[in-house]
Amino acid sequence: MKVIAVMNQKGGVGKTTTTLNLAHALALQGKNVLMLDMDPQGHLGSCFAVDTFSSSGMDEVLMNDQPLQEAVLNVRDKLFLVPAGARLGELETQVQTGANKGYRLRDALASIKANGFHQATGSLPAEDNISAEGSHFDYILVDCPPASGLLAMNAILGCDELIVPVTGDYLALQGLSRLIKVVSHIEQTLQRSTKKWFVLTRFQKQRKLANQIREKMVGYFPNQVFETAIRENVSLAESPGFAQTIFEYRPKSNGAQDYQNLAIDLLEQRTFH
Ligand SMILES: Nc1ncnc2c1ncn2[C@@H]1O[C@H](COP(=O)(O)OP(=O)(O)OP(=O)(O)O)[C@@H](O)[C@H]1O
Ligand SMILES: [Mg+2]
Repeated sequence: MKVIAVMNQKGGVGKTTTTLNLAHALALQGKNVLMLDMDPQGHLGSCFAVDTFSSSGMDEVLMNDQPLQEAVLNVRDKLFLVPAGARLGELETQVQTGANKGYRLRDALASIKANGFHQATGSLPAEDNISAEGSHFDYILVDCPPASGLLAMNAILGCDELIVPVTGDYLALQGLSRLIKVVSHIEQTLQRSTKKWFVLTRFQKQRKLANQIREKMVGYFPNQVFETAIRENVSLAESPGFAQTIFEYRPKSNGAQDYQNLAIDLLEQRTFH
């Protein structure tokens, strides 16, 4: 089981779009995939027509020690989701006490890691062979908020790897150096390092700047920039409005092709050079 946080404190770079479409692409490749919505905005849930503000989820898991697997919804074949929950924002705003406040996600994942996943308590009817009962998750993708507070800290401390979506504009690079600073500070304290991947999103091949940014990225982070860049594609923006992933909404679109290729990049560790 690999836990991957999709993280960038910059807003609107494609974290949620990447989490849900990469997760579905991996599920279509036969993997069992769990998505965790660590963003109090609850966008990931909305993309699956789950109303975060009338449900519980990561809020109860992180603040009231609810076992993670009790909060899991089965949203598609081999694809599972824990929504943010109405109160997740309180974790950032309330003064948190206790030395382990950054380790809540890691602790919550520990039992799934040790014992596997036993029951889908989804709101959607479980069809034949839809559930991963007694099974394990191959991938857990964590959709992070556009902030570098306690939720992001929990994601960094709880994950094995990071995927950082980056748009092809100049300010994207500035934000990136800040993100890397935050992560390496935590890594130094913990004396461990987290594997980092970068994916270019909203990519416009015909723009010189986008290609320059890609080259810069590959220079800074050799063998860490995924081969596939996610092109700007309007179907990716439209599909959440129909509570569909790109593979349901426009399976032949550039967006579907790109996220399918990105899943293969991840499975085969394929990078751009
Ligand atoms: N490749 C793309 N082509 C076109 N539109 C895209 C693409 N990727 C994302 N979008 C759109 O851009 C907007 C921001 O994307 P998204 O919500 O995934 O970013 P985010 O990083 O999760 O944002 P936030 O920081 O608010 O959580 C959304 O409207 C989304 O539909
Ligand atoms: Mg988001």
